[in-house]
Formats: sequence, C-alpha cells, structure tokens
Amino acid sequence: MQTHVFQTAQQIAKAAATLIAAQLLRKPDSVLGLATGSTPIPTYQALIAMHQSGMLDFSRATSFNLDEYVGISPDHVCSYHRYMQDNLFSHINMSPDRIHIPDGNAADVAASAKAYDAAILSAGGIDLQLLGIGHNGHIGFNEPGHEFVYGCHQVQLSETTIKANQRFFDSAQDVPRFAVSLGIGSIMQSRQVLLLATGEDKAEAVRMALEGDVSPQWQASILRTHPDVIFLLDKGAASRLTHW
Ligand code: PGA
Repeated sequence: MQTHVFQTAQQIAKAAATLIAAQLLRKPDSVLGLATGSTPIPTYQALIAMHQSGMLDFSRATSFNLDEYVGISPDHVCSYHRYMQDNLFSHINMSPDRIHIPDGNAADVAASAKAYDAAILSAGGIDLQLLGIGHNGHIGFNEPGHEFVYGCHQVQLSETTIKANQRFFDSAQDVPRFAVSLGIGSIMQSRQVLLLATGEDKAEAVRMALEGDVSPQWQASILRTHPDVIFLLDKGAASRLTHW
C-alpha cells in the first residue's frame, strides 16, 4: 500500500490522471472502475484535457461505475448516469456500449446486480478502480455495518450519506434512500485501487481506513488487505494520520 500526501486537490487530480493514463497507455483495452462525487471531478477534468490534447485514447477501454441511486431516472440531474455523462463521457471517446453503470430502476434489482457482477467478470475484471471515501468510511455505497458485502447489491443509505449528498438535491427529503452499489468483493478483486480523499472533513474516515482496525464499521479499512492500493490525499485529509 502506498500513501501520497499532496498540497492541493489539483495535484491529486494530476497524479490520479497520470496513473489512469499510464494504465491506458500500457493496456488500451483496460477495464476502469469509476467513481462519482465531488472528489474525482478534477481528475476527470485532467483526463479530458489529456484526451483533448491527443495524448489519451479511451476508444478501447471499458468502464464500470461503482453505484447509482435507486428510483431516479438516468437523465435526472442528480443521477450518476447524468453525472458521468456531464463530467466525463460526453468529453471523451469511450464507446457507449463499453460504459456500464448499475441500473437503479431495474424491476428486479437483485437480478440486475448479479448481472452487473457477471458483466465485470466477463470483461476480465477491473484493472484500475478509482474510489472516493465517504465521511463514514464508505467506498461505493458500502455503508458501515456488521459485514463486508461481497457482490453488487441494493443498500439503504445511511443518515450521514443522505446528509452529505443533500447538497446535490433541493432538500434532504429528495435524496433517494436506496442505491445499488458494487460490493466489496469486486472492489477488492480489482487489480489496482486508487483512493482519493481531499479536505479535513475526510480526515477521520482516512485515519480509520489507514490506522484503525480492519472492520466493516469503516468499510474502506478492508483496502489495507489489498495487494496494490494507492491513497492520494491532501494535507487536510491526511491531518489525523499519525504517520505517512
Ligand atoms: P465526495 O463523495 O467525493 O462527494 O466527497 C465521496 C464518497 O461519498 O464516496
């Protein structure tokens, strides 16, 4: 495991985009695991700039997003389908048939989640998984609990997550209560994991992930048992670590 601490979020974005670009240059048909939220936006902007400069080609890459809300349509302004279109896919040349995002409107969510895991496996597994981290230590929407859930599944969002995400919606009432999330198993099976965290408000989650017990109460702590994980942090997010 490696931890790098940077001065600014912009530096993290450049470092993350460089690692993703290196992955694609080494293996143009890479399978990328992608994340939403505020944290990866500068990274996506850096990737878009690399693509627009002619340096980075996504045409043979495949992507699987981590999660999606249940019960809002894909074109809803707060859906993760829409987020990915607006923040990345509409600016790069990834083939639409290689883009995958969990279906939050499936009639049978369990069957759809199972099919999502199967699609990852048949694509050869995730080469590089990009992650943010929630204030409560969630990765994807794997919320604190008594177990690590292996497969893609429907989750009930915690109060902490609803509160954190209400900034994207008109009010807390409008935040969906359920989501579909990739499980910890698929995340852990990714060949490489890149976790980004910025801001002092993430410092406790980062501390528990890196220095607490490995426990489903802080889901990101499982990453310490992954053979190839890189944490890219800014000073704020690293501020409660005792060593780095
Ligand atoms: P954020 O979300 O990047 O918007 O802070 C991260 C997460 O909840 O995983």
